[in-house]
Amino acid sequence: MTSFSGFYKLSRKERLAKIKEFAGLTDEEIKVLESPDALSFETADRMVENAIGTFQLPLGVAVNFVINGREVVIPMASEEPSVIAAASNGAKLALPEGFKTGATDPIMIGQIQLVNVPDAKKSAREIIAKKKEIIKLANKPDAPMVKYGGGVKEIDVKEYDTPRGKMLVIYLFIDCRDAMGANAVNTFCETLAPEFEKLTGAKARLRILSNFATERIAKAKAVWKKETIGEEAIEGILDAYEFAAADNFRAATHNKGVMNGIDAVVIATGNDWRAVEAGAHSFASMSGRCMPLTRYKKTKSGDLEGEIEIPMAVGLVGGATKTHPTAKLAVKMLGVKSAGELAQIIAAVGLSQNFAALKALSTEGIQRGHMELHARNVAVAAGAKGKQIDEIAEKMIAEKNIRQERAAELLKK
Ligand code: MEV
Repeated sequence: MTSFSGFYKLSRKERLAKIKEFAGLTDEEIKVLESPDALSFETADRMVENAIGTFQLPLGVAVNFVINGREVVIPMASEEPSVIAAASNGAKLALPEGFKTGATDPIMIGQIQLVNVPDAKKSAREIIAKKKEIIKLANKPDAPMVKYGGGVKEIDVKEYDTPRGKMLVIYLFIDCRDAMGANAVNTFCETLAPEFEKLTGAKARLRILSNFATERIAKAKAVWKKETIGEEAIEGILDAYEFAAADNFRAATHNKGVMNGIDAVVIATGNDWRAVEAGAHSFASMSGRCMPLTRYKKTKSGDLEGEIEIPMAVGLVGGATKTHPTAKLAVKMLGVKSAGELAQIIAAVGLSQNFAALKALSTEGIQRGHMELHARNVAVAAGAKGKQIDEIAEKMIAEKNIRQERAAELLKK
């Protein structure tokens, strides 16, 4: 049991009161959550070009998550029914231990492309020989992240033979501390490019971060006890996992389920979900074939152990995390003090989401649960309000006739 048991049964007002108490939110912050236009047009107009409005998504919270011994309530923004319920359910079944998580340092990779290289081999050797000097030059006191202990930590170089001639690619390994880091990395790449041009006599072209964030990994692990989920579910999940490990068409869908949970938290916290998606799928395909982002095995005592390892380029400073009022609150709700902590929570959600999907898919299937939610949406689309929504949805499910025309007929009765 966590402090959020039965949360779904509460009214919106009661849910907000609970969140307020749990996360120490102020009355003003609760008003932001209640407001239909928390993101004002004025702010939106400063965030993007040619703004004409804002776009809303449902914001819910996943509950029952205990991560490294701490209970966390997790904001999730998603248009997809069942996702938040499934994540919460996976987490509930992992109680009382919950999830154990960890993360590497927040190292992002920046790339500088050098073309028209007069002598690629010699230049590559020289860059490696001079890397200490270059790192020192890069990390001047006013360079991004340096005063927080971040900055360029390592340099590497790769050589390519391309149809357009020899190409060198410089890799900058940059500690981005609590930022997602795109701006910092791009600044380092653009600032250092002329130095590499001087050193090599080549021309710098692209100077940009890589979203294949192999050095910024978040990990989560959980054990689901056989007494809690039953042996049949364990066997089912292991079979489902082997399917994804053997077949890349399945692995893609397996990973889509992982990202259902991950993206929802990434979006709620104002982070760049395209960056996280790009990192996740390239990581999954690192072996040359799309592999599952999660892994499962049976423990010696016959329980199910699941784990995830995933690049997680998310931050707490800069971008929409600081400008979007709801995103700021989402971060406050999570009670995280570093980007690494946020990354770990997101990894735990991905694992829980995937566990819940595999459990449902390998036993009763997911359509029953989906149909219930679908029926409610159809009822709403037909104009049902308040109590009518559940009444009409239940009738349509019983009749196995979930259509908007039927909902409209039932509404007239
Ligand atoms: C649906 O959004 C996600 C699932 O297809 C994931 C999976 O198949 O593992 C249910």
